[in-house]
Amino acid sequence: MNYRIPRGTQDILPEQSRKWQFIEQKIHDLCNRYNYKEIRTPVFEQTELFARGVGDTTDIVQKEMYTFDDRGGRSLTLRPEGTASTVRSFVENKMHGWADQPVKLYYVGPMFRYERPQSGRMRQFVQFGVEAMGSADPAVDAEVIGLSMDFYRELGLSNLKLVVNSLGDKESRNNHRNALIEHFEPRISEFCADCQQRLEKNPLRILDCKQDNDHELMATAPSILDYLNEDSTNYFKLVQQYLADMDIRFEVDPTLVRGLDYYNNTAFEIMIDGEGFGAITTLCGGGRYNGLVEDIGGPTTPGIGFALSIERLLMALEVQEISLPIEEGLDAYLVTMGEQANAVSPKLLHGLRSKGLAVDGDYMGKKMKAQMKAADRQKAKFVLLLGDDELAEESIMVKEMATGEQKQVPLKEIAEWIISQR
Ligand code: HAM
Repeated sequence: MNYRIPRGTQDILPEQSRKWQFIEQKIHDLCNRYNYKEIRTPVFEQTELFARGVGDTTDIVQKEMYTFDDRGGRSLTLRPEGTASTVRSFVENKMHGWADQPVKLYYVGPMFRYERPQSGRMRQFVQFGVEAMGSADPAVDAEVIGLSMDFYRELGLSNLKLVVNSLGDKESRNNHRNALIEHFEPRISEFCADCQQRLEKNPLRILDCKQDNDHELMATAPSILDYLNEDSTNYFKLVQQYLADMDIRFEVDPTLVRGLDYYNNTAFEIMIDGEGFGAITTLCGGGRYNGLVEDIGGPTTPGIGFALSIERLLMALEVQEISLPIEEGLDAYLVTMGEQANAVSPKLLHGLRSKGLAVDGDYMGKKMKAQMKAADRQKAKFVLLLGDDELAEESIMVKEMATGEQKQVPLKEIAEWIISQR
């Protein structure tokens, strides 16, 4: 029996995981600067949370969830996204009562969607997301968008396109909804079965249909921007004003609707331009969800956030040939020759590691030359040469790999000596 990794998942091997660690550290640093605090929620939740939170008519809920009954007969679902879980936790932990509002949270963790795998579309992927709950100030929208743009910029990505739209408040959405129904209803039989269902439940989702993309009614569909009431219009204007003040370039795209049901007012996506990225060009998506906390059983609370996947970010870095400034290599590699020297190696390595040094040595009984090669491959700054003769003198030979310079150092002082060279 040959076991294989499940479709749409990946092993992250050491060379890649160093990149992941670097990116994760970047996330923690960036969120710290913006004063967002980390939240960790379970990877599975009650199925009903996503049905309600993400929305019954979305592709995610209808086709993509990993749902199972546990041994107690409860229906659970591997989280397909992080917003519903974060809002569930907000409500359950009564965060609306916390002294500091809005409550600004971020998360990094695996999400699961049963999608058709292709490059940039996985069945398990890792999202970095932020959620700010408790303020309806358009300055928070600008902050959240600014954070996401900063993240990509600081990693060195260019050619990013920020697209924003407003889906309006409840009243605006209702008016737009009616206009959409009026527009599509007479010819709805020409659309796919999904769209026919969407017409009554959520006609906005028709605009996001991949199958009927080219239907002539799509291009002429009523634009949400023509249905925004005064409040929504002013809100959207302020968001745009703040973005402009922050020197963040953006485009307004009235056809941007997003694939989840909870959005209102601001919606945004960050796309990447250029070849080599296949069909997937959206790196990041987010928006405002002022009704979601209430839907999930909490008090009326506005919220906004975004999520992006590390997998798509890594693809973008690769396409733009950006190498991350990752520090690698050992402080030292211990090369031993002779029985007695080999025998003290465990103690010596342990002592150096206890003092905070990154060191390694040979466990394969290699000859000296092969050990030197290993030291080179491991990018050791120094090689520590220990033979039985050196051991008798209680000293060790140190060779700096970059210069080839050699020096005899008393064995007792070797850790301090390496540290002094840092
Ligand atoms: P979403 O647009 O479904 O939004 O996903 C956000 C991002 O997750 C996408 O732009 C993409 O980078 C990544 N992503 C989604 N599906 C996959 C996949 N199958 N493989 C790899 N990457 C993927 C949300 O999830 C919302 N919760 C965002 C949000 C937070 N809105 C407000 N707060």
